[in-house]
Amino acid sequence: MELDEAINLRTSVRYYEETPVSDEDVKALIGAAIRAPTASGLENWTFVVFKSPEAREKVYELIAEGMEEYYRAVKLSEEKIQKLRKRMYEEGMYRAPVYIAVFIDKRVRFLKGLEFDEPEFIWSVESAAMAIQNLMLKAVELGLGTVYIGVTNFRGIERKVRELAGIDENHYLVGVILVGRPKGDVKPRRRKRGVDEVTRVI
Ligand SMILES: Cc1cc2nc3c(=O)[nH]c(=O)nc-3n(C[C@H](O)[C@H](O)[C@H](O)COP(=O)(O)O)c2cc1C
Repeated sequence: MELDEAINLRTSVRYYEETPVSDEDVKALIGAAIRAPTASGLENWTFVVFKSPEAREKVYELIAEGMEEYYRAVKLSEEKIQKLRKRMYEEGMYRAPVYIAVFIDKRVRFLKGLEFDEPEFIWSVESAAMAIQNLMLKAVELGLGTVYIGVTNFRGIERKVRELAGIDENHYLVGVILVGRPKGDVKPRRRKRGVDEVTRVI
């Protein structure tokens, strides 16, 4: 597949078929992820794959909790929240055959000194985000869909994801990625602003 095609086909998928994703595919996704640039060569990322039905159910519940909190935080109406609950609990939204939680290990450092704590932490998060984008593009090539979940970073939920992953508080959760065969047709979403609008040449 041409890179352009993968870039243009990628879109967030929130409904999946139950078909499992093979271990080989999961390995290929993580293989693509770790080819991403990594600040100071830290490679301080860990990919925790949730694939047993029990583990997936728990991750799904945490996503559902986070999504409801998000809807309330942006003051969506009770009617909209009920619609979200229906989509999640009755229609299978956010249920996927594989969830991959991406963590960074905050202890792995290159720069010494407190003044570098923040930039190095942000660099690690950025590196992991680049790894996630690689994973998402590779998924397109393999006929798989993905969506990045950020609401699992809300207070209390992040800790529960870490505990499920068996990972300590020295790690920070960058995101949870759903992976699976998309259910139904997937149509990439339009961008609100075009290239000319977001570009400034000086
Ligand atoms: C950092 C980050 C966090 C996100 N968190 C969520 C989330 O918690 N739930 C969700 O449904 N989508 C989430 N998304 C997906 C965005 O909503 C989506 O990328 C955006 O609407 C554009 O749509 P597209 O990915 O189909 O182009 C997240 C995306 C990013 C990059």
